[in-house]
Amino acid sequence: MKTIVRKIDPTAPEPQIVAEAAEIIRSGGLVAFPTETVYGLGANALDAAAVRRIFEAKGRPANNPVIVHVAETGGARRVASEWPDLADKLATRFWPGPLTLVLRKQDCVPADVTAGGPTVAVRVPSNPVALALIQTAGTPIAAPSANRSTEISPTRAEHVLRSLDGRVEMILDGGPTTGGIESTVLALDGGARILRPGLISSAEIELILGSHLTRPNAQQTGQSTILESPGMMERHYAPRATLILVPAGTGAETARGLRTQGKKVGGLFLGSVSEEGNEIAMPASAPGYAARLYHALHLMDAADVDVIVAELPPETDEWLAIRDRLLRATSPS
Ligand code: TXA
Ligand code: MG
Repeated sequence: MKTIVRKIDPTAPEPQIVAEAAEIIRSGGLVAFPTETVYGLGANALDAAAVRRIFEAKGRPANNPVIVHVAETGGARRVASEWPDLADKLATRFWPGPLTLVLRKQDCVPADVTAGGPTVAVRVPSNPVALALIQTAGTPIAAPSANRSTEISPTRAEHVLRSLDGRVEMILDGGPTTGGIESTVLALDGGARILRPGLISSAEIELILGSHLTRPNAQQTGQSTILESPGMMERHYAPRATLILVPAGTGAETARGLRTQGKKVGGLFLGSVSEEGNEIAMPASAPGYAARLYHALHLMDAADVDVIVAELPPETDEWLAIRDRLLRATSPS
């Protein structure tokens, strides 16, 4: 299959290009498209055969369900069989945006989307290209991140192309995504539990839900934040090189030591960098860091380093999702 890459205006997507992509979705094909978090690999969520093609293209295990993207809250209510009060509060506050709600599914959602389970994950993305594509296709769009399974998620069209060239009909190139890491996945079954930390912090969710939100305990927010969600297999978001996490301020020294052992070393540092090759000074704010993280890891892969030394950001709520991604990137295969 030849993969077509189409540049598209990220703020005012050209209707002609959107229509082309929507036609592919409607006829059972795959389109990679930008969201505000990472690029998604989309298919018609109500077409089981099309959804199965997502799993084939990614090499994704069939037991890992995918998120359904809709254009407005009404669309979410059509794929969910229950719409609790808490869902309504969260949707009002955070949609369109990077919050995914896990709700009981409606019969129209194929088992392939939900990995045979009784729930469906749904969100309204805020990226104008994503919204236009869903609206024009006239169907909810199932989309995991547009990378091969266990590889780093894509935040630019070229990342998608490198991973999925020949496996997807079209890539809509809407430039770099603004958020940079994935949505927060929240289960709403009675109370509310975060299954995957993401761009919306637990503090922000707690402002809306108060005591209805079960916070991850102190241990989970520390060294290991492995939260339950079928897709949270430990090795994930992984670059090819070995990633080593070190305390802030010690990265340069660790990198120097490794270089004297003859290793090709890259660094993701929180402060300044030396001029020794593949060192990147990462932004000191969590949103800035998130926006750059996956691109930085993709750059390290492209530079073919042996080891990446990353300085650990603070152990606070706003850095939780970033620490989670860094920790997963270190797990041995
Ligand atoms: O930001 C995002 O969420 C991006 C963009 C494209 O929307 N999508 C994304 O999809 O990250 P994916 O497939 O890479 O991750 C979805 C996560 C996985 O951990 C999956 O197991 C979980 O959501 N998930 C999906 N459906 C679920 C369900 N019914 N119950 C529990 N977890 C679910
Ligand atoms: Mg993913």
